[in-house]
Amino acid sequence: MNNIYLDNLFSKTKNPIWLMRQAGRYLPEYNQVRSTTKNFLEFCYNSDLVAKVTLQPIQRFDFDLAIIFSDILVIPHSLGVKVDFVKNEGPILEKISDPKQLSSSNFEQNLMPVYEGISKTRALLDKSKPLIGFVGAPWTLASYMIEGGGSKFFNDVKNIAYNNSDKFQEIIDILSENIIIHIKNQIKAGVNLIQIFDSWSGVLNRENFIQWSVKPIQKIVHEVKLSYPEIPIIGFPKDAGSKYKDYYNDVKIDILGLDSNISRNWIKENLPKDLILQGNLDPIYLLSNDKGKLKNQITKILDDFSDRRFIFNLGHGILPSTPIENVELLIKIVRNYE
Ligand code: CP3
Repeated sequence: MNNIYLDNLFSKTKNPIWLMRQAGRYLPEYNQVRSTTKNFLEFCYNSDLVAKVTLQPIQRFDFDLAIIFSDILVIPHSLGVKVDFVKNEGPILEKISDPKQLSSSNFEQNLMPVYEGISKTRALLDKSKPLIGFVGAPWTLASYMIEGGGSKFFNDVKNIAYNNSDKFQEIIDILSENIIIHIKNQIKAGVNLIQIFDSWSGVLNRENFIQWSVKPIQKIVHEVKLSYPEIPIIGFPKDAGSKYKDYYNDVKIDILGLDSNISRNWIKENLPKDLILQGNLDPIYLLSNDKGKLKNQITKILDDFSDRRFIFNLGHGILPSTPIENVELLIKIVRNYE
């Protein structure tokens, strides 16, 4: 695909780099700003703080792309679902089981601070650096709402999805409509790419993956592309395994995000060479004291994808205990790679 932002990005450097959760708890300057607000969502809705922490990793490491600081759970929250972030426990949500429990009436109003944060960030960010906006996919957001938080077995959400599919379809439709609105509003506010996180797509069998992950994302991408054909979309069906192929065949995203478990050889054998890839380094390697081992892992990924456009990233968010010097080393290795 010819796209001015992507062409510029790849003309400057062979492998552009950014990291999922690059503005996060491994950064002392993030923790300093974060400590000024008790409630995580309040922090996400403070447009000045959003701009400030979004820019922190760019200022420190000069990453090639910035991602707006926010969270996928601002969508359920803006549909009237209670969301609480409990320290060291992750998010806790009001458990819902019925589409009637969702209210779209204040959705865009509630999310205004996110759009203001995007405009402020875009005004301050170097023009050569794309700003990524993002959403959670319908299946992942439905899982959080129906499970009431993270989950081990996903029994409640699967029970509705598999055994009460009309009702589940209504929930997915409400989410999809509002996800489309949130993506379009982020683009209007100034983001240049969109990433769709489907963090829990790996727990579905193929039939249900097609129905509840692929189909709704296909519709979302179609709708967004009708209005904004020039905005590249990154799809990230985390832990989808061999279903990555079904995902790509049906959802013609521009960039495919890879988790850390997928085999690079399998990807090369099963997906087209002109598809731009992103991701794959297991964030665990960044905890290592063994610099040789870290270098080896990074170089193997670069070697395997050296014949195509590849954006260096992790297979999941960077861990809070990651040493800064390992991030510096990672960037140096990627930048010096030929
Ligand atoms: O990548 C970035 O730098 C942008 C910011 C970003 C955050 N969350 C900030 C955040 C992004 C892109 C997300 C996406 C997100 N949020 C996902 C999809 C990616 C994935 O991890 O699979 C999911 C599932 C969530 C939901 C969520 N938010 C969880 C599970 C947690 C708790 C995780 C933990 O380690 O405690 C959050 C909180 C959260 N979102 C933090 C950050 C920096 C940490 C909370 C804090 O600073 O107090």
